[in-house]
Amino acid sequence: MTLLGDASIAGGRKEEEGEIISIRGGRPLSGRVEVKGAKNLVTKAMVASLLGESPSILRDVPEISDVAVVRSLLEVHGVRVEDGVEPGSLVLDPRDVESAHFEEIDAHAGASRIPILFCGPLLHRLGQAFIPDLGGCRIGDRPIDFHLDALRKFGAVVEKLPSGIRLSAPQGLRGASIHLPYPSVGATEQVLLTAVRAKGVTELRNAAIEPEIMDLIAVLQKMGAIISYEPNRVIFIEGVDRLKGYDHRAIFDRNEAASWASAAIATDGEIFVAGARQQEMLTFLNVLRKVGADFDVQEDGILFRRDGELRPVVVETDVHPGFMTDWQQPLIVALTQASGRSVVHETVYENRFGFTQALVKMGADIVVHPHGLQEGVRRVARRALEQAAVITGPTALRGADITVPDLRGGYSHVIAALTAEGESIVRNVGIIRRGYPDFFAKLRALGADFDVIG
Ligand code: EPU
Repeated sequence: MTLLGDASIAGGRKEEEGEIISIRGGRPLSGRVEVKGAKNLVTKAMVASLLGESPSILRDVPEISDVAVVRSLLEVHGVRVEDGVEPGSLVLDPRDVESAHFEEIDAHAGASRIPILFCGPLLHRLGQAFIPDLGGCRIGDRPIDFHLDALRKFGAVVEKLPSGIRLSAPQGLRGASIHLPYPSVGATEQVLLTAVRAKGVTELRNAAIEPEIMDLIAVLQKMGAIISYEPNRVIFIEGVDRLKGYDHRAIFDRNEAASWASAAIATDGEIFVAGARQQEMLTFLNVLRKVGADFDVQEDGILFRRDGELRPVVVETDVHPGFMTDWQQPLIVALTQASGRSVVHETVYENRFGFTQALVKMGADIVVHPHGLQEGVRRVARRALEQAAVITGPTALRGADITVPDLRGGYSHVIAALTAEGESIVRNVGIIRRGYPDFFAKLRALGADFDVIG
């Protein structure tokens, strides 16, 4: 099996590449799925390999298209990327890193947001970097001002061009004192990946502390970095002259685990998510308990199912250790089956309820308040961004013709179609491959009744 080369053949074509599926819903999803390395760590750890003077080994790499994009972008910069001996592992050899040609880099424009994280490592390795226009899910503005401000503080010269961003570091990069306006995951990673080889000490305040960031810190420490942190989101990085390769098994994908958990609850099934761990999912599990779901934490995973009638809940997305923004979409499908009025406040992105339109088309009672609901006491700093979705249930969902808008929204469309009575056509399902490995195979293993039709 090669990473991103394996897919079953259905009717003479690769089933995993299908873009349109027809789903016959109304059956519980039951069985076992396994989650591997987290998309939101693996892609960053791959970028970190650029900083080493020797090859790195990354284990439990999922077969998703975001990994393919980062792999290809590393390769155009001279990193040799090969499948490791252990299935699902990659060996990344950065010894021949070189400047890529504009056309090669530009071919990746719009494909992913990870390329922005190449800035620091490329500046260290080559003294310059060119980053194409970014992609990723269309869930709001997704600016990169925190990234660019931080890079300037390290001494980078940033030039914005119509085709992307050109950076140089005529004087090299120096440690900096940075206070992020918001604990952004990407900007924290940008600072870590740049500071580890900058001259002197970097002090990062208001950093994101997601488990995937802690895992990236572990990767960097294996490479030779000196990174410490204090309570209250403060991280210190003492720059070092040289880093070596790492050998690391990626942290499990808690977003995928939470997605399958919600699928079990929505369809009234029972799913054992192998590889899921309690510690990184405490906040999610608390919410599930309030909703009336049952979970059984076992040695090698967590079993999810309903525990009687589902109850409504009020949740608010937030940075870690809060309720992740990536968890709300599948949960909302389950909440359409709860008796009463649930409220989900989204505070991380300004446009992350677009996916609910398809659920409404399927019969859900969901009202989105684009400027939030001024009820209850909430501690989120960015109230200006808040939107709220009010979900009143239970409602019977019926099959519909729907189009996937983004990764997490798309996953919840499929789960809604599996919960609904009758047939649904779900278009654009390819987007789901950005973040859910072996998606069709896992659905089949859980007893989903669907055909790939386009
Ligand atoms: N923001 C700015 N300026 C910046 C950077 C961020 O205003 O320079 C804002 C964003 O617009 C957003 C908020 O800060 O409103 C949070 O963004 P953050 O930088 O934390 O997110 P990210 O690094 O772009 C990662 C994940 C997302 C996940 C968020 C929040 C990756 C590749 N993506 O995005 O995952 O939702 O953190 O945890 O790690 C997904 O997996 O589907 C996904 C979107």
